[in-house]
Amino acid sequence: SALPALLQAAPKAELHLHIEGSLEPELMFELAQRNHIQLSYPDVASLRQAYAFSNLQSFLDIYYAGASVLITAADFEAMCWAYCQRAAADGIVRAELFFDPQTHTERGIALATVLEGLLAGIKRAERELGLSLDLIPCFLRHLSEAEALQTLQALEPFREQIIGVGLDSSERGHPPLKFARAFAAARAMGLHVVAHAGEEGPAAYIWSALEDLGVERIDHGVRCLEDPDLVAHLRQQRIPLTVCPLSNVKLRVFDKLQEHCLPRLLDEGLMVMLNSDDPAYFGGYLGENLRQCFDALPQLGAEQAYRLLRNSLEASFATDADKHTWI
Ligand code: ADE
Ligand code: ZN
Repeated sequence: SALPALLQAAPKAELHLHIEGSLEPELMFELAQRNHIQLSYPDVASLRQAYAFSNLQSFLDIYYAGASVLITAADFEAMCWAYCQRAAADGIVRAELFFDPQTHTERGIALATVLEGLLAGIKRAERELGLSLDLIPCFLRHLSEAEALQTLQALEPFREQIIGVGLDSSERGHPPLKFARAFAAARAMGLHVVAHAGEEGPAAYIWSALEDLGVERIDHGVRCLEDPDLVAHLRQQRIPLTVCPLSNVKLRVFDKLQEHCLPRLLDEGLMVMLNSDDPAYFGGYLGENLRQCFDALPQLGAEQAYRLLRNSLEASFATDADKHTWI
């Protein structure tokens, strides 16, 4: 069908993208060499072969190892700029980039270095590509709430450089409730709040993210379908779910794209849109997610395409003035 070509050009937002997950193997090896860091794989081809995941944790182990090549502000800038170029090519006009401060501060990289690099990439993309971009640091949920609170405190001098906070990493065994005080403190700073929930974890974690953390959007959220009361609540409150189909297949949340629940989420009238999550690891950027979904899922047509793209722009934290220029 002609639909994928139209979708490629249409204005859209990406709301669930971990910038460290956009680090392509080629750039990873280039940075490793420049920074004298030894990776566990001899070359790009063998690294790519290791991208065969059995669950979220098996991915996270490789993903955190990959991030170890990021040392200088120039490294973060190169990664960010590379993503922005791919995003612009996919018709993205707005992106809200997740990054994991603790992955870097734990290795002795200053938060100021991380932000200097990412912001340089963002400024260049705003200027040269006309993108609208913002940053959302995420707390690592496998670490303690005290560490999340320390991270929030370290972010305070950069308050004007971020629009919100998120929660990511190993979901099972780390319910949102664990971070209730850190999220209350973030909300008190006037920050937007989002959290990964219902990716591998149960529907109860989605409830907890909403009620205990007060989140405005749920990242993933695909397991909401196990709880009809939750589905009704998400529909009534128009809570966005930032769904990531290729990620879900790579991390074995669904065996195949043909089995993905996206058509059901849309049928239920939920505020869903597509995202690439960690495109360098999961086999494609946002355009590829759209193409593969519309190829694999015959239930999806023009109406669903329009809703997915419109939802992405509407659910963004861009200003109303910006939204009006896109919608
Ligand atoms: N960090 C990067 N990608 C993630 C995902 N899909 N789930 C949880 N944490 C992540
Ligand atoms: Zn994610």
